[in-house]
Amino acid sequence: MITAEENERLTRVGAGTPMGTLLRRYWYPIAATEDLQTAWTKRVRLLGEDLVLFRDRGGKFGLITELCPHRRASFAYGIPELDGIRCPYHGWKFDAAGQCIDQPNEPDGSTFAERTQTPAYPVRELGGMLFAYLGPAPVPELPRLDGFVIPGTVRMVGSAMVDCNWLQIMENSLDPVHTEWLHGHLQEWVEEQRDGIKPNYAISRHHVNIAFEEFQYGIYKRRLMQGQSEDVDDWRVGHPVMFPCTLAVGSAGGLWTMYAFQIRVPVDDTHTMHYWYTAYAPPAGVPVPAKLLDEVPHFDVPCINEKGEFNLDLLDAQDVMAWVTQGPIAKRELEKLGWTDRGVILLRKILARELDNIERGIDPMGVIRDPHEIIELPVEHGKDMFSDGFASLFRRTQSRYYPYAKEILELFGTPNPAHQPDTERIAELVAAD
Ligand code: FES
Ligand SMILES: [Fe+2]
Repeated sequence: MITAEENERLTRVGAGTPMGTLLRRYWYPIAATEDLQTAWTKRVRLLGEDLVLFRDRGGKFGLITELCPHRRASFAYGIPELDGIRCPYHGWKFDAAGQCIDQPNEPDGSTFAERTQTPAYPVRELGGMLFAYLGPAPVPELPRLDGFVIPGTVRMVGSAMVDCNWLQIMENSLDPVHTEWLHGHLQEWVEEQRDGIKPNYAISRHHVNIAFEEFQYGIYKRRLMQGQSEDVDDWRVGHPVMFPCTLAVGSAGGLWTMYAFQIRVPVDDTHTMHYWYTAYAPPAGVPVPAKLLDEVPHFDVPCINEKGEFNLDLLDAQDVMAWVTQGPIAKRELEKLGWTDRGVILLRKILARELDNIERGIDPMGVIRDPHEIIELPVEHGKDMFSDGFASLFRRTQSRYYPYAKEILELFGTPNPAHQPDTERIAELVAAD
């Protein structure tokens, strides 16, 4: 248990707060590249700051404070130019570095523009997503996680705004046993109510052990379930939690390899933008239609249904239900932690340690300074949580909202164990592509 004061320290993300200062040392995804192919601007709220992401006509991305420093109209309605964006109200133009480069109605010879700036932040593109950094110089390296850079994969970006603080979402990533209940027994109960028959999924097996281990970028979490021997990848490999806001859940359950990241972007104290970034590497030698390899679509993940209830037959919405029902900021001073909460306690300890490190001027965990080509993370093999293999990922998780999910399922959604693709049909499609 922690005190209400400690809870505040660990959760608040605004500028000048301890955790806000720590969280500003990392890059965050703020949009899919696709978002700025169909629009020139996008409002972004990040770490309590209201910003506008824009693309100028020269193709450069910029991220500036939403309101214009003149008389505070919104750049969300700005007019893009070759070298920046003009405010829609009086046409002041700013470049991606936040420097005012034109004030059309100021007198000739005025140096006012030179003396006018607006806060601006660096933006980088990687793997079909745009990332921003709001912290102090020197700007760290953007981590080139494997799924973002491996070529020849089918990639997608799902997202949903989650109405709660970022920390309860990350704590969930250090809580392995929840899968047994939230995605196992609850899933079975949802289906029992729907179909009148209770299924029995491998994911609801009882956990006999859990373990956590710190590494360079975060914490590995591992699980051992009933009937498993200690040489299974669940236990041997585990899932890396990348400090501070990313869970990597790479796995290989058949012919495909999945590189999947759940990235929890702190919007403000009580909202988190959840991105599911997934890259599926196809079986060797199996051709995939070009559009599936070229496009990185961004789609909404509807965690709430038309009745305003959590969409509980969706695995990811089961998680969202658990996070949101804990409250906008979980009252940790009221908790009763047990044996299974060791990972949660470890995360809080590491966060407290890194807050101290920041105060002592030490780079916190996971800040990367060395240029690199790729960060390869371990991938668990032999995974099959729902007995229908690869298809289950497109039926039960947010991937089902991928615009080409139907095509993927038609092509590759055959049952376990072989997951044999329909090679003739794929060849036809590729030929027609
Ligand atoms: S408010 Fe932006 S130019 Fe006047
Ligand atoms: Fe979960």
